[in-house]
Amino acid sequence: MAARSFLILCCFFSHSALTWATLPYCGSDSYKYTPLQRGDNGNEYTLKQVHVIIRHGDRTRAEAAPCWANDTAVWDCLLTSASLPVIKHDIHDITVDRIYRDVYIPGRNVMKGDCGLGHLTSKGYKQEEDNGKNLRKAYVDTGFLSPNYSNHEIFFRTDDMSRTRQSAQALAIGMFPPSAPLSGKSQVVDINVMDKEFDDIEPNANLCPKLNQYRKEFFASESWKQHYNEITEPLMAEVEKALGLTYKLTPVGLIHITDCLLVHICHGFPIPPSVSSDLVERVASEVEYMWYATFEYPTIQDHAKVGIGFLISEIWMAMQEAMEESKARKFYLYSGHDSTVMPFMKAFNASDGKWSPYASMIQLELLETTSSKNTDYAVRLLYHGQERVIPYCRVSPCPLAQFSEYMQAITPQHPDTDCKVTNARLMNKARSPHFRAARVFA
Ligand SMILES: *[C@@H]1O[C@H](CO)[C@@H](O)[C@H](O)[C@H]1NC(C)=O
Ligand SMILES: *[C@@H]1O[C@H](CO)[C@@H](O)[C@H](O)[C@H]1NC(C)=O
Ligand SMILES: *[C@@H]1O[C@H](CO)[C@@H](O)[C@H](O)[C@H]1NC(C)=O
Repeated sequence: MAARSFLILCCFFSHSALTWATLPYCGSDSYKYTPLQRGDNGNEYTLKQVHVIIRHGDRTRAEAAPCWANDTAVWDCLLTSASLPVIKHDIHDITVDRIYRDVYIPGRNVMKGDCGLGHLTSKGYKQEEDNGKNLRKAYVDTGFLSPNYSNHEIFFRTDDMSRTRQSAQALAIGMFPPSAPLSGKSQVVDINVMDKEFDDIEPNANLCPKLNQYRKEFFASESWKQHYNEITEPLMAEVEKALGLTYKLTPVGLIHITDCLLVHICHGFPIPPSVSSDLVERVASEVEYMWYATFEYPTIQDHAKVGIGFLISEIWMAMQEAMEESKARKFYLYSGHDSTVMPFMKAFNASDGKWSPYASMIQLELLETTSSKNTDYAVRLLYHGQERVIPYCRVSPCPLAQFSEYMQAITPQHPDTDCKVTNARLMNKARSPHFRAARVFA
């Protein structure tokens, strides 16, 4: 999709940088939820539980390293954050007499303007609010969820970063618009977080050291070396020249430069005229290659087991609870990163191979199936509201028996043994000068 749009956009580029803002990566507002249909076999589906996985909305650039000389972008952060200390966990309405606002001191940050690095922008906030409104149409207006937020029904989760937390808040506002309370008290909505150390909202080598082994093995493989020599190295040289860089790029540096380019394009900031739309397209697809090729090492399923499978496993447990227990929560949100969404879709072998846009959204719906004979369950996967067939299941929704089999293949079964590093030699080796870290940043 990105490639096609680039083709169209290239021709307008010289006239207006603004047309770039319609790049799919920047996020779109064309979300359309695919309503549940009756099955071909006449089955009736009833929604039991929903899991929504998002990437945060549009943000400022992620890393502190400069983009290029003469970068003229000045960031204007309309969006700030305010909070108040709260003591009790179990109270869900409080009287608010004061809140504290974070103010980024102008002129004291890495970027020109008054924005922090990697912060959600007001554009990103709006994208997630729209996600929330669309979810309200799909799940509240249809009677599946109560019209008002309830912590017995809803579980919002994010990692401990401001852009993902604010994305969850924006989505919550769109989904459950607050109304002036009669009691004079304000509603408390829980946003659940945990320490980054053992968070599984993205693949985490602290939970499973084998993840790093697989990444290192991939970047030591013949197929990567060949790709590196043929594509990556010449491309980095081309980028160094186009940007007039005075240092040697590494693949991690190339990811940073790509982020710089995309962040500028999504905000209509100028990029150096020596960088053509074709070059932007090629660096973006190189980054996509680096990520998706790693997700396939050694196989899609084995990679998932040591990485994003930890999150999928939690989702699967919540689904099992919903099938056994009528009081189970009905709606879960996981507000994460591209490094959440991309491996997640890849684990199901249902990825489009593209860099997941800002505010991209996955929905996993647990359905009860009623036929004349019996009651069963099925799972439906949606990306940007569009139904996706999980290839292992061959049909959508995926019947529970197949889904359950596939869960065995992509979630950790024996992490104590399976996560153990089995290639110590490689792990202890000095870091490759070409690729100092295989870290996926978000
Ligand atoms: C839900 O919120 C509305 C205001 O939006 C309020 O009028 C209504 O009483 C609430 N319902 C419940 C069950 O609390
Ligand atoms: C940056 O600006 C300076 C002064 O205008 C100019 O000499 C230099 O070539 C520019 N560098 C780039 C990479 O555009
Ligand atoms: C992924 O899905 C494709 C069909 O889209 C199938 O041909 C392929 O075998 C699947 N790969 C794995 C590893 O499941």
